Amino acid sequence: MTKMSADDRRSSSETRRKPAAIADGGVENRIERATDSASVDDLEYDVVTTPVLVVGAGAAGARVAISLAESGVDPLVIGKRDHGDAHTTWAAGGINAALASLDEDDDWTIHAADTLNEGHHLNDPDAVELTAREMPDRIRELAEWGMPFDRTDDGAINQRYFGAQSYRRTCFVGDRTGEAMLETLIDRARALEVPYRENVMITRLLSDGRRVFGAAGFDMESGRGLLFRSNHVVLAAGGFSALYDRHSSRDDENNGDAQALALEVGARLLDLEFVQFHPTGMVGERYGEEWDGRLVTEAVRGEGGRLYNADDERFMERYSPDQMELDARDVVARAIGREIEAGRGTDNGGVYLDITHRDDDYVRARLPRMVERFASLGVDITAEPIEVAPTAHYTMGGVDVDFRTGETGVDGLYAVGEAVAGVHGANRLGGNSLAETVAIGKLVGEHVADAVGESDADPPVTDAQRALAEREFGALESLAAADGDVAPTTLLADLGELLWTHAGILRDESGLRAGLAELEALRDRTGDLRVEGGLTSRSFEYAVDLSFSLTVAEAMLRAALKRTESRGAHHRTDYPETDADWRVNLLVSADEGGLAIDRRRVAEPSDPVREALEEGYELDYHHLE
Ligand code: FUM
Repeated sequence: MTKMSADDRRSSSETRRKPAAIADGGVENRIERATDSASVDDLEYDVVTTPVLVVGAGAAGARVAISLAESGVDPLVIGKRDHGDAHTTWAAGGINAALASLDEDDDWTIHAADTLNEGHHLNDPDAVELTAREMPDRIRELAEWGMPFDRTDDGAINQRYFGAQSYRRTCFVGDRTGEAMLETLIDRARALEVPYRENVMITRLLSDGRRVFGAAGFDMESGRGLLFRSNHVVLAAGGFSALYDRHSSRDDENNGDAQALALEVGARLLDLEFVQFHPTGMVGERYGEEWDGRLVTEAVRGEGGRLYNADDERFMERYSPDQMELDARDVVARAIGREIEAGRGTDNGGVYLDITHRDDDYVRARLPRMVERFASLGVDITAEPIEVAPTAHYTMGGVDVDFRTGETGVDGLYAVGEAVAGVHGANRLGGNSLAETVAIGKLVGEHVADAVGESDADPPVTDAQRALAEREFGALESLAAADGDVAPTTLLADLGELLWTHAGILRDESGLRAGLAELEALRDRTGDLRVEGGLTSRSFEYAVDLSFSLTVAEAMLRAALKRTESRGAHHRTDYPETDADWRVNLLVSADEGGLAIDRRRVAEPSDPVREALEEGYELDYHHLE
């Protein structure tokens, strides 16, 4: 098949997608808190003050904002897209909570144990336990706020199987769980009158070297500079899986903004070498280029979907005879990769996922979005298998934080959601990403609310602070005027290929070193950048993305090179075994010579969770059949 490059895909997505809530006029743009305007040279900018600035309007940002508002603090939430249009809407299959609706033996300690096992014991046990303990209440709260969870016949919140979970623990709204959750959180935030501002891109956190005092960016529709002055900035701006050529997220989000912004002001990044490759991304000519890599939810396997190679073998029997298609994502993704490599893949470089043995009405009820999407592409999934191959899906690594507070170690800066690392360790349990956003988001919002003092309500803007922001606005203007020969999309596409080739499902030293050398060459080419259309153009947005992406890609490659073992999603073919001495986290920080990498020991879980680990719970796939 002719592959559509990320370059082509980006250029063909000039029109921004609006989710139903916006298209219907269901969400209005409520407020702008501009208190002042100023100009530097010919670039005018607005000054906006707020007690708390939340950067990112997906589930994590929304949940933080709700906690703040409930505690009497008025935050300002800003998002890169129209309000309601965040990457959360693409989370499909569900959200984990040990409700024991169907399997009465489940409890939070087993949820925590499954999370630690899947994370290969590199997770922060405290973060895992907080998440697992909080989740049953967070699900009940979402239901109270109107989230239309699927229900059992007796009215309990229904739960489905998801990979590597000992019990049915994943709550769901068909296969549109993330979208339903974000709609619910937005409704709640609106009821609390949480102010937000859409189509804003943050390009730099403002710091005097001791603390963060706000952020600088621009309005993506007007091109106007924006100086946000706040003593408390919460980064909830997602991960960096879109750096990869083949990924399940949207092309223009998850480019590493949060991690690069935080690193620059002195925060540390953790576990960057761990990138989750979801086993089932769409692949094949039949689906069209724009769908390449897009997610086929794990719920298809959770509802019984089976994987076959081109020789019609149910190959998971070879790789994981007990857990089969519902083994951990890294195991299933590597198995698919090996089948393809061994020449047993389809002509399009995939394998088949088949759910045709299940009743048609059941499939339509449980997987409506999948049925609808494939039907629109001329494929009836109740009658024929679909082609899938692994795709970059989620980044376990991110900003290093204290999970009880969201503090990053840099005064005034907090982070939450996929922007951070710790809950998932070396590999994430499906259904735990949405869980983390609300479980930890609530706690972080409460903590920040406690930290806000009276003088934070309308903080003054000093001349020195203005000067820093103005320097950034000047730099943005210069970038917008770049008139070289290379489009940012070309470099982003080359970066995507570089990472897919050298830091993909399988890595080794020579590949990672080659990746670093190519990255340097790519960086040199940024000197010849061409931006077309000025500050409101997609071209300019991609140029800003590029600088974030290069920073994070380098940190990721260096961390992957450093970890000389295989663990979870990080598989080194030159070090194929897990090494007990490597049960440490790698922390990347910026220092004068470039990037420094340090090790940190992992803490131990609490007694109840250790007992659950010792019990050795795990899914036995065959009793589902
Ligand atoms: O496959 C999925 O629906 C993805 C869920 C997740 O990543 O948690």
